[in-house]
Amino acid sequence: MKTIRASIIGFGSVGRGVARTLIQKEDEIKKAGFEVKVVGIADSSSGIVDPDGLDLEEILKHKDSTGRVSEERLSGIEIIENIEHELVIETTPSDIQTGGVGLENMRMAFSKGRDVITSNKGPLALRFSELINYAKANGSKFLYEATVGGAMPILNLVRETLAGNEIKSIQGILNGTCNYIISRMMEEKAPYEQMLAEAQELGIAETDPTYDVEGIDTASKLVIIANSVFGMDVNYHDVDVTGITKITPEALMLAHDEGYAVRLIGEVKDGTLKASPRLVPLDHPLAVGGTLNVAYIQTDLAGDITVSGLGAGSIETASAILSDIMSLYRER
Ligand SMILES: NC(=O)c1ccc[n+]([C@@H]2O[C@H](COP(=O)([O-])OP(=O)(O)OC[C@H]3O[C@@H](n4cnc5c(N)ncnc54)[C@H](OP(=O)(O)O)[C@@H]3O)[C@@H](O)[C@H]2O)c1
Repeated sequence: MKTIRASIIGFGSVGRGVARTLIQKEDEIKKAGFEVKVVGIADSSSGIVDPDGLDLEEILKHKDSTGRVSEERLSGIEIIENIEHELVIETTPSDIQTGGVGLENMRMAFSKGRDVITSNKGPLALRFSELINYAKANGSKFLYEATVGGAMPILNLVRETLAGNEIKSIQGILNGTCNYIISRMMEEKAPYEQMLAEAQELGIAETDPTYDVEGIDTASKLVIIANSVFGMDVNYHDVDVTGITKITPEALMLAHDEGYAVRLIGEVKDGTLKASPRLVPLDHPLAVGGTLNVAYIQTDLAGDITVSGLGAGSIETASAILSDIMSLYRER
């Protein structure tokens, strides 16, 4: 059986979800004709390696009790550079301004000819074509389903299941936090600030919610869709973005009386990218509530396709990463 040696760089919610999923799905992975041996793990202050394969249960316990993966000051980029392995699972924080450590990790991985699977949208929203070309030039594979919509399948769905179709447009609700806040504002007839506070209390919104509520997160995902599905060459600065902070309950109620919901919609259509609050008929597939993500894909052959699912969550996002792992290494 083929053994894929992997590193997990970033061991927070998603990285730990990946570790748990690899433990839980060991047998299913073997049925696909390979096994995954994790040979390196890093968080922001420590790292651990074992070329024979790490004990994931032990490291999860150590991280839970100490906040670190080990007592060794070993960085993710050192692991990527120096430890022999095929696959880097990159799950460090998204940095939309500079690409952050994720961009450096991906460049290092490709320079060593390693494959990369990631949930980190920052580097892709800023440097998509550079990364794709660099991967190609080094014979590396690069998959990133988890960067858009968490568990909701969209990139692989379009690439594989809808292969051959012309994709005319994609509209989506790509940020569960915004969707929760707007849906709750309507339900409670309550102002934005009150429902943001509720979302923060429930852990749905971050303490600093700027990325989400200003539409930056939606715009970043839209860029990844535009480049990967539509073959465009755009970055975050090419998106026309408006967030949800100016929406009032009165506007939501007025729209509702006329048969519409207001939703933060990301849209790629006719070569333009737009993320803004839009009116959606109440019976339209995009009018979902709560933290759900949804994508509405218009095609020439298959007609209109709608997918929806959880856009965030440790195991849910790990599911998208596992699906990328399976599609890369499964025996054909
Ligand atoms: N959470 C979700 O549901 C979700 C869904 C889709 C996509 N994503 C994306 O997935 C990525 C990870 O999200 P998350 O929720 O897991 O974030 P998180 O809980 O904040 O975890 C980030 C991890 O990266 C580590 N890290 C930070 N700087 C690092 C460095 N220089 N080298 C190595 N590791 C470093 C952190 O270390 P410490 O543990 O030491 O702090 C932490 O373990 C982000 O890019 C996010 O946008 C998340």
